[in-house]
Amino acid sequence: MRKLRVGLIGLGGVAEPHLEGYRQVDQIEVTAAAELVEDRRHQMTSRWGLEGYRDYEEMLERENLDLVCVLTPARTHREITERVAAAGVHVLCEKPLALSAEDATAMISSCQAAGVKLCYGASYRFLPACRKAKEMIAQGMLGEITLLIETCIGGQGFEHYRDLGERHYPLGGPGGGGMGLVDHGIHLIDLFRWFTGSDVEYVSGRGNYSGQAPVTEYLTMLFGNGAVGQLIYNEATFSSGMPAEGMFSWGWSWDIGGNLRPGGSWDPDPGSIRVHGENGALRIYHYGNKLFLSNREECQEISLLHRPMPGNFAMQMESFAERIHRDEDAEVTGFDGLAALRVLLAAYESQETRSLVAI
Ligand SMILES: NC(=O)c1ccc[n+]([C@@H]2O[C@H](COP(=O)([O-])OP(=O)(O)OC[C@H]3O[C@@H](n4cnc5c(N)ncnc54)[C@H](O)[C@@H]3O)[C@@H](O)[C@H]2O)c1
Repeated sequence: MRKLRVGLIGLGGVAEPHLEGYRQVDQIEVTAAAELVEDRRHQMTSRWGLEGYRDYEEMLERENLDLVCVLTPARTHREITERVAAAGVHVLCEKPLALSAEDATAMISSCQAAGVKLCYGASYRFLPACRKAKEMIAQGMLGEITLLIETCIGGQGFEHYRDLGERHYPLGGPGGGGMGLVDHGIHLIDLFRWFTGSDVEYVSGRGNYSGQAPVTEYLTMLFGNGAVGQLIYNEATFSSGMPAEGMFSWGWSWDIGGNLRPGGSWDPDPGSIRVHGENGALRIYHYGNKLFLSNREECQEISLLHRPMPGNFAMQMESFAERIHRDEDAEVTGFDGLAALRVLLAAYESQETRSLVAI
């Protein structure tokens, strides 16, 4: 099978695990990348042996690419995706898909009109602990899912809080830090939909605004199957975690300060997701690459694939490359990205209208 020629747009923080992960993927070769910042472009393209461009349109014209990964801030996703699609190139777009449902819908339409595939970068679905959890849920090992929870609470206090700023999220609109509701919670909204196999019907929530003082963010989701999903985030306080709750993280991970930590390092406050059902519960250490099942009989550790982060970026790409070869839709599509975005934006609507919002 011919290797797909891949280009990247944006060589910032997330490009590191994409490129590291892609070393594991036989079906592709990454040949080129576009990045606006000169130093960063030179550093990354020489390190990874890529043809570098300042202007991604020039890259599209010259490189004869099959697939482009859009790894730029969300506010740029619509314009870039539309241009890549118009060039007849398949798109893998990072999360959040866009800043509005209108933009996300336009991105889906432009890819459909151009006859190219759009893969939504729901990289948490490809973490081995999350994949195994989904498999166990689908096999009925937990019974009906009733409750899903993630909290992300920590930081170095109010004065050390930094949001991602207007480069990522326009001032005054939904935004906040790298481990907040918009930038991180969007992963969990998608994951909870996938785990329950059910859409969100009602939402209540509150989120940070770009450039404004942080608050405690929350999102309560009522799913069609009756489950409740709960996210609670605060990046501007301190962790209340105890030393004994830390672990060595098998995979790479992002900490609450937005720093990418190497695999094997001690994580004093490892991120985890709790999924409860009628017959059992799962504790998913998504970056730690550990999974525990508790039920009437016991609490047991479930063995996992040895492909922790950045292996999830490899598996995401393998899945997309296979779908392209078979001429099928991506495993996670633009519609999934749009669905997650609608739920996220409904949290802000609920905050403004002080009401429960129907999706
Ligand atoms: N899947 C994940 O786990 C994960 C993790 C982190 C970030 N992300 C997502 O990845 C995207 C990028 O995040 P990041 O942390 O790498 O941001 P970043 O700010 O570190 O990097 C973005 C890069 O894009 C470049 N850029 C912007 N516009 C460009 C253009 N028109 N042409 C070429 N380059 C351009 C910038 O100069 C910058 O270097 C965001 O959508 C973010 O939400 C996903």
